[in-house]
Amino acid sequence: MGHGGVEDAGEDAEATRRDADDAESSRASRGWWDRNADEYQSEHGAFLGDDRFVWGPEGLDEADAALLGPADSLKDKDVLEIGAGAAQCSRWLAARGARPVALDLSHRQLQHALRIGGSDVPMVRLVEADAGRLPFRDGSFDLACSAYGAVPFVADPVNVMREVHRVLRPGGRWVFSVTHPIRWAFPDEPGPEGLSIAASYFDRTPYVEQDEQGRAVYVEHHRTLGDRVRDVVAGGFRLVDLVEPEWPAWNTQEWGGWSPLRGNLIPGTAIFVCERD
Ligand SMILES: C[S@@+](CC[C@H](N)C(=O)[O-])C[C@H]1O[C@@H](n2cnc3c(N)ncnc32)[C@H](O)[C@@H]1O
Repeated sequence: MGHGGVEDAGEDAEATRRDADDAESSRASRGWWDRNADEYQSEHGAFLGDDRFVWGPEGLDEADAALLGPADSLKDKDVLEIGAGAAQCSRWLAARGARPVALDLSHRQLQHALRIGGSDVPMVRLVEADAGRLPFRDGSFDLACSAYGAVPFVADPVNVMREVHRVLRPGGRWVFSVTHPIRWAFPDEPGPEGLSIAASYFDRTPYVEQDEQGRAVYVEHHRTLGDRVRDVVAGGFRLVDLVEPEWPAWNTQEWGGWSPLRGNLIPGTAIFVCERD
């Protein structure tokens, strides 16, 4: 979820705002997640749980939210998880009787999925691929989901929406979470310094960390709330809900710039619930 406060293990990177196209963004994401998957999983693995389905740092759990549908309706459903990381969400889906496919760009993240998924847990198929080019036939899945996977990191989110639409069957649901767009106006800090507006909400220039040669090593793309709605519609979907999870009293844990202090005042996550006719 973002890079969640994890510092890049391999690069002494400079943070800036500049354009980054799809190819550069994809290359940067693969490199960043391959270099940093170990630290990400050791820092956040306990919160994510090996087989929980958490939508974001607030800790909203699919077991309670049922955004993909009631848990007992998931049995025998073909589900695609995009940007699955270590496939925690897919493992939760498999335990409900679904047939999940966990797709991620990062080989190292998927190695963590193999490490966690021993022989005593329900099977999850793992696929190493880019969300912008899904290696599946049209109409292969009943449901698609993504908890902060891929969508915040791609330059062309409409392409991802179209790809997901293509691989879903008619009547399919696509639910994805991203950093709430309002967060872009504030410094990514968990404390009081993260409460004052520091940049224009309307500035869509990507956040880029780059190496000494100016090559991007980490990229996040900003879209306003309206942009995200238009992306979903341009991808062929109907938007049926936009969930802004409130920070629950039980969650005392910080996650990078997400904290109880800020979470009680402004939304940190936006979850788009979409349907394909
Ligand atoms: C913040 S993690 C989210 C993973 C998991 N849901 C979690 O909460 O840990 C983002 C994941 O998206 C993957 N990712 C980034 N860009 C991608 C792309 N273009 N295609 C597929 N996966 C991508 C990264 O490799 C990473 O595993």
